[in-house]
Amino acid sequence: MNITEIKTVEHDVIVLGAGGAGLRAAIECSMQGLSTGLVCKSLLGKAHTVMAEGGVAASLGNADARDHWKVHFRDTMRGGKFLNNWRMAELHAKQAPERVRELEEWGAVFDRTKTGLINQRNFGGHRYPRLAHVGDRTGLEIIRTLQDRGIHQGIEVYMECTGLDLLKDKDRISGMVAMWRETGEFIIFRCKAVILATGGGGKAWKITSNSWEYTGDGYGMAYEAGAELMDMEFTQFHPTGMVWPPSVRGTLVTEGVRGEGGILVNADEERFMFNNISNRFAAETADTEEEAARWLAGDKDARRPPELLTRDVVARAIRKEVQAGRGSPHGGAFLDIATRRNAEDIKRKLPSMYHQFKVLAELDITKDPMEVGPTLHYFMGGIRVDADSQMTRVPGLFACGECAAGVHGANRLGGNSLSDLLVCGKLAGSGAVNYIQAVSTVPELNDEQAKNIIRSATNILNRDTGGNPYLIHEKLQELMQNNVGIVRSDELLGEGIQGLVDLWEEYANVKADGTSQFNPGWHEALSLRNLLVTSEAVARAARMREESRGAHTRLDFEGEQAAWLQYNIVLKKTEDGSMSTEKVLRDEPDAELMRIANLSIEALEAEVLREKDSTG
Ligand code: FUM
Repeated sequence: MNITEIKTVEHDVIVLGAGGAGLRAAIECSMQGLSTGLVCKSLLGKAHTVMAEGGVAASLGNADARDHWKVHFRDTMRGGKFLNNWRMAELHAKQAPERVRELEEWGAVFDRTKTGLINQRNFGGHRYPRLAHVGDRTGLEIIRTLQDRGIHQGIEVYMECTGLDLLKDKDRISGMVAMWRETGEFIIFRCKAVILATGGGGKAWKITSNSWEYTGDGYGMAYEAGAELMDMEFTQFHPTGMVWPPSVRGTLVTEGVRGEGGILVNADEERFMFNNISNRFAAETADTEEEAARWLAGDKDARRPPELLTRDVVARAIRKEVQAGRGSPHGGAFLDIATRRNAEDIKRKLPSMYHQFKVLAELDITKDPMEVGPTLHYFMGGIRVDADSQMTRVPGLFACGECAAGVHGANRLGGNSLSDLLVCGKLAGSGAVNYIQAVSTVPELNDEQAKNIIRSATNILNRDTGGNPYLIHEKLQELMQNNVGIVRSDELLGEGIQGLVDLWEEYANVKADGTSQFNPGWHEALSLRNLLVTSEAVARAARMREESRGAHTRLDFEGEQAAWLQYNIVLKKTEDGSMSTEKVLRDEPDAELMRIANLSIEALEAEVLREKDSTG
């Protein structure tokens, strides 16, 4: 192979992934004068960011003036069961309002309050209505705005181009090999830094809100390049995905439906979320004694209805109803907005949901309840990064958005993904700028590394026989759904890990028929390596964490264990190519942050009020 025949393009920085995080990171790099290439495997604008429909969380205080970054921080830590990286959660809560206002300046058209401010709605786990929104199309509006800004900023975009693997000059990043999906031709990017913003890996599961792009590419590439993965056991099952018809199973039904007053009922027409509140749960979860008492009494007018408990709780409750035989006809629960809001409100506040059910399920949500059930939606874990710079342990390699770990701990609150990607996207961009300014030399490209990456990609086409990539993927999805699902146990996970060992063997011989030109079978085979790294990391971390915390539920280890709060599980590739799984002691939290997170809500509200009074 003559590597000089492969086109090489140079930029200061390459951003891989063009969802909200990638776009925001690229804008920052470009604004600060870096030559910036943005590579995405799909069409620009098609990203999982659009699946955060109901809003972006930021303590603007427009719907409730008591809101403040400290309350947002406290909610985020409690939602994440205190496993969040404290500094990241602090940066996120402090900077989210500025990032939302900046988006507005860049042209995002948010829904307004009667007095013309950005409107905010309720979402699970948030103390106040905090989600700035654009009907139920918030992610879409954010992408549109960032895309527009990015293009005019001079970012060079490489669309339908799949990143295969990273290149290194000794320890530091020197570039990336990628492949044009249409022609099958390879391209080498030479750069001083790479920012991964590749989203999650929901496609490892059978029922997911993720579309075809979400194959854990960032996890696989970072892991291969020597970076660490962290908190991978925490995978979020959004409680409300469509369950019918089968062709759209898993498609997201926004939490905004419940935020606008929608309720969950079982086949006996019972509002079952009230049955999922034990005395202990109410005491630990409700913000005030009054709220706990209202939940326990089944008060249907409680200010924060139990439908808006955190996603892990609601997803498990729906699963329980189905298992007890009280589910909806197609194995979910009923989500009713029709009896709670008038048709005009529903169409105005939830236009996409109205349209989605009309077209995909032939159902009018202004008249009938929807059928919904849990769907794999989001990874709280991901690539381990430094909180302020978003740099991984590999010099020159950065990660932000869903593919990075830290902000959300054991469970993410709805709406915090959009604020995370804006805040951390910008931080990653500045991190890369600072890093590049500090390194004096341009890293060298290593031809042998590039050749190896290209050879392992083309071997899939060139071998005579081998396993069918679609069948391997199907087996993986079945395994992850059954063995590494909403509830887990040592037995299930052990079986799952053995199944993954077998799938790795099948993958070693995977074969795609046909040529390299637009060949979906080849693309599918190429994504399998990353899906398998992702799945193995989730399964191994889930087996090691012997407790239930947030989105990670172990049938054999009920409840949170204080001792486990001290550890993150960190995974990396060892010299012999196997995956190491290690319990790593967490840093001591900053005393002031710890104080804020542990204050009672009444005390924090009083403190915030005093602060607001004194600053006018
Ligand atoms: O339900 C939703 O609209 C999703 C939001 C999110 O994941 O943040």
